[in-house]
Amino acid sequence: MFIAAIANKFLVLPHIFAVIDMTNLGMEEDAMSGDKEKYQCACGKGLTRRQFLTSAGAGALVVADSGLPGKEREASAAVIKSGEGNKITLLINGKQFQMLVEPRWSLLYVLREELGFTATKEGCGRGECGACTVLIDNIPRYACMTLAVEAEGVEITTLEGLMKGEELGLVQKAFVEHDAFQCGYCTPGQIMSVEGLLRKEQHPSTEQIRLAVSGNLCRCGAYNHIFEAAKHAAELKRGGAR
Ligand code: FES
Ligand code: FES
Repeated sequence: MFIAAIANKFLVLPHIFAVIDMTNLGMEEDAMSGDKEKYQCACGKGLTRRQFLTSAGAGALVVADSGLPGKEREASAAVIKSGEGNKITLLINGKQFQMLVEPRWSLLYVLREELGFTATKEGCGRGECGACTVLIDNIPRYACMTLAVEAEGVEITTLEGLMKGEELGLVQKAFVEHDAFQCGYCTPGQIMSVEGLLRKEQHPSTEQIRLAVSGNLCRCGAYNHIFEAAKHAAELKRGGAR
């Protein structure tokens, strides 16, 4: 995530950094021999190179296939037919959801369009803005850069999971109290990044807070208020509340 933020900041081939970031999410290369190349995803399932490229989305495809003529690119993209499904179980906000997903579907798509967790926002859709941030095993991740099939067997937390019914979570309350938004579009992602930081660090420094939200772009420039809200949220959490 941090690498993607730096890439965006300096406008240096953000797609390449996005692919590297996805690699960090659990995609490991096994063998290197043409179409027999195997990739291992975080869920333990093997994918061929073609399946991986097809599933990884347009951003990754552009980088991986940038040297191919248009027709070859189309042929590669047609390997997995639309409608073919993988049966997976996702653990979201403490509840299990069994569903059929296409291998190419991102976690963001499944959360919003299939399951209705619309607090998670889509901004860029390619690992640059952080609007789609969720927690995966308590670590902030871009849902747009995570395949749904990768997310099986891990614990996913969305903004809805921070609430108790209609009651806001502590980080949400701190954002409201400190007026840490203007248009609000980046806010769910900012809150999830702060939540992820506070789950591992009870006394974050300003530098740690800045680093934690460095992958979340706020086009309204509300950063100073966001930093104050994060400090206040840490105090609220240390106070013993949830
Ligand atoms: S990083 Fe922009 S929508 Fe995911
Ligand atoms: S509050 Fe508008 S983008 Fe952050």
